[in-house]
Amino acid sequence: MAILSSLIFLSLSLSSFLQVVRPVDVPVPQYTLNLDLPPQERWAHIVKDYAALYPLLIEELYQIIPKPIVVAITSVTGVLDQFIPQPYADEIRGIAKYTNSTVGETLMGNLAYDFTAFYHGGKAKRGACTSILAVDNNGTLFHGRNLDYTFKDLIRNFTINVEFQSKGQTVFMATTFAGMVGVFTGMRPGGMSISLDQRNTGEIWSNFYDALKTGFHGMVGVVLRETLADANMHYNDAVSKLTSTRLIAPCFLIIGGPKAEGVVITRDRSKAIDVWHLNETWYLVETNYEHWKPPPATDNRRDPAIKALNSIGRNNITADTLFIVLSTPPVLNTATSYTTVMSSGSPSYYQAVIRYPPLPDLDVNDHI
Ligand SMILES: *[C@@H]1O[C@H](CO)[C@@H](O)[C@H](O)[C@H]1NC(C)=O
Ligand SMILES: *[C@@H]1O[C@H](CO)[C@@H](O)[C@H](O)[C@H]1NC(C)=O
Ligand SMILES: *[C@@H]1O[C@H](CO)[C@@H](O)[C@H](O)[C@H]1NC(C)=O
Ligand SMILES: *[C@@H]1O[C@H](CO)[C@@H](O)[C@H](O)[C@H]1NC(C)=O
Ligand SMILES: *[C@@H]1O[C@H](CO)[C@@H](O)[C@H](O)[C@H]1NC(C)=O
Repeated sequence: MAILSSLIFLSLSLSSFLQVVRPVDVPVPQYTLNLDLPPQERWAHIVKDYAALYPLLIEELYQIIPKPIVVAITSVTGVLDQFIPQPYADEIRGIAKYTNSTVGETLMGNLAYDFTAFYHGGKAKRGACTSILAVDNNGTLFHGRNLDYTFKDLIRNFTINVEFQSKGQTVFMATTFAGMVGVFTGMRPGGMSISLDQRNTGEIWSNFYDALKTGFHGMVGVVLRETLADANMHYNDAVSKLTSTRLIAPCFLIIGGPKAEGVVITRDRSKAIDVWHLNETWYLVETNYEHWKPPPATDNRRDPAIKALNSIGRNNITADTLFIVLSTPPVLNTATSYTTVMSSGSPSYYQAVIRYPPLPDLDVNDHI
């Protein structure tokens, strides 16, 4: 409790979102991407800034993706266009070109979620993700998320905000990683906000089988990006699309609308097994476990988040106080790479920070 009240005090005394909690947090580097350029050129100015770090990232990828999958992915690159839809195939080629990596390595990075979300033999992973939808008394919806990834520290250094623009106008924005064509966290102003939480279930072989069967069309990040990019798609369309479209990997999809509406979709590969609506409470908290089951005692970030939300209360929920919830241990933990708070109905709210160590340990469950 002591920590929480001091955080609230800080938020009241400092006006800047970035200074709400911890001075070690740094703003996410900001880029624009011009969708009117040829796909191979779109990422050039961005990934050039990260090319020197790229070999280290590739090295880490080789460690986390199972070897047979690495071999399979590498063999696909000769016939990339048969497996990856445009413009993503060409964007991947361009990223490979401007980072001096191979198309196979860049593809592997882009498939990192799709090929790591499966059942890991019952071992609770240390950290994964937290997404929260919360609605204030005025009906403004705030959507916050921590992206946690036990991927050493490097993924933080690749975290960027990108405004995807066409004809000089921002179509949608995302907090993402340099060199990744899909999107795990993003918002279309006036449209919707979306975040992905990892769901580990089923077999890695099902992921791979589904990837081949769908011609890789079900890459989760790509499906989310297409949803954000389509200006004709409204919140309800997005919910039904993301409930039914076949995906390579299971996941939790959290969607906030421009009004006081939102859902947590629990996804299997083929379709949703549950759609949880924000209409009985003023917030929904999703980590990495089905909401109708208790979280494992070894990784309970849900209850601390709920406790923090209740303690702030609906009267006081704002982008800043939601940020405080996401900064409460163990919601914020050693694996947290970035925090984003957004609100598609109030598009001026799009804030993201990279969470650098020292970070609280995940096992600490009783801070508030
Ligand atoms: C990529 O390779 C080219 C040609 O070998 C070289 O000129 C350039 O400096 C390299 N860039 C990086 C970031 O390594
Ligand atoms: C809600 O609306 C009231 C009246 O318009 C305003 O004073 C208040 O700041 C708003 N609260 C939030 C959290 O936006
Ligand atoms: C990543 O960024 C942090 C903070 O700026 C820096 O200390 C670290 O050296 C970077 N890592 C690499 C591998 O460059
Ligand atoms: C919430 O929305 C769902 C789906 O529209 C509906 O089935 C449920 O009855 C609603 N609950 C309330 C309390 O309105
Ligand atoms: C929270 O809201 C209540 C009631 O609106 C108010 O009295 C209190 O000062 C608020 N607390 C903070 C920390 O903003």
